[in-house]
Amino acid sequence: MAISFTKFFAIPLMLTMCSTIFRSGSSSVFHYPAVFNFGDSNSDTGDLLAGKGFSLPLPYGETYFQSPSSGRFCNGRLIIDFLMEAMGKPHLRAYLESVGRPSFRKGCNYAAGGSTVLPATAASVSPFAFGVQLNQFLHFKDRVLLLRAKGNKKVNKLLPVEKSFKKGVYMFDIGQNDLTAAFYSKTPLDQAIPTILTEFQTGLQRLYENGARHFWIHNTGPLGCLAQNIATFGSDPSKLDEFGCLISHNQAANLFNSQLHALCKTLQSQYVDATVTYVDIYAIKFNLVANYSQLGFEQPIMTCCGYGGPPLNYDNRISCGLTKTLDGKVVTAKGCNDSSKYVNWDGTHYTEAANEYVSSQILTGKYSDPPFSLDHKRPFFLKF
Ligand SMILES: *[C@@H]1O[C@H](CO)[C@@H](O)[C@H](O)[C@H]1NC(C)=O
Ligand SMILES: *[C@@H]1O[C@H](CO)[C@@H](O)[C@H](O)[C@H]1NC(C)=O
Repeated sequence: MAISFTKFFAIPLMLTMCSTIFRSGSSSVFHYPAVFNFGDSNSDTGDLLAGKGFSLPLPYGETYFQSPSSGRFCNGRLIIDFLMEAMGKPHLRAYLESVGRPSFRKGCNYAAGGSTVLPATAASVSPFAFGVQLNQFLHFKDRVLLLRAKGNKKVNKLLPVEKSFKKGVYMFDIGQNDLTAAFYSKTPLDQAIPTILTEFQTGLQRLYENGARHFWIHNTGPLGCLAQNIATFGSDPSKLDEFGCLISHNQAANLFNSQLHALCKTLQSQYVDATVTYVDIYAIKFNLVANYSQLGFEQPIMTCCGYGGPPLNYDNRISCGLTKTLDGKVVTAKGCNDSSKYVNWDGTHYTEAANEYVSSQILTGKYSDPPFSLDHKRPFFLKF
């Protein structure tokens, strides 16, 4: 079953010094009481697995969680996990995961792999498109307020306090799957992108009307540098740039991002009592692909977990962790020996090592609008 997913999954060091700095410095800096996250596989902490009841094979999850049942499309932690750690908070729990001891005290994660901003269709990997994730959040909020009003201390300990809905941060990392779908569709991108962003804006407005005041928005990464896209669209070398990335796909991502940035600017002036932060994930990831060796990596494009060997080690007939008969031979898409040397995990998603690097860069504050600086005590997460 996993094969059919990978097609649309956007998901979604080395710098030990860097990560030590942001971890140790974190407790005094990050003060949002809760995080509510919306998105696709770039930040899915188990929602799609729980919601659809399927499983991922090893080596997914092998590096950190020691099990693919963490539901992350990665060998280990995602950017959202590192950001939670930097805030001194537990990893965000997936909204749909019903097993375990669910504490939503510090927030909840509605992101599900394969999700789009635009409504899902029968063919979508994830039925949990952005609008559904927002409905889930609003249901969650109603339930929390109702349960809290009953005053059961044991239950309340597991739930956010009411003011967290206003003072918490609402994070977004979504749109990659809409763009990926657009690459396979006949609608030109310059028509598809405004439709996607209008839907996104409508969703943010719903949250704003329901009391959200802190918005944290990741743009989309360099999709042209993903082995899955290169394998599908990059057979003609003239379509690739000096780093081996697909020029047209990166242009599409840039077009999307410039319009998303403009939307964030509009919201910054419109929501005068709110904070709206746009984070340039593209610049961080593209820098990683372009300057990988200075950053402690050896493979910027080739997937760690895949099949076929260099240059991409990616074959869209067999996804990471599976064994199949291909051309009369039984083969397995195995993980690499040292994932910390690879930027890309499975052709679509980044490795834990890459995610850690990206998070450390987010936390420098240099890639956001408005920017912030930990040095000048203008924190990423404002203190309330
Ligand atoms: C790679 O690093 C150099 C030197 O720091 C920098 O000027 C350049 O912009 C980086 N490349 C990308 C694509 O970010
Ligand atoms: C991984 O390590 C094993 C055992 O040391 C070795 O046989 C194999 O060639 C290595 N694979 C790669 C891709 O380096």
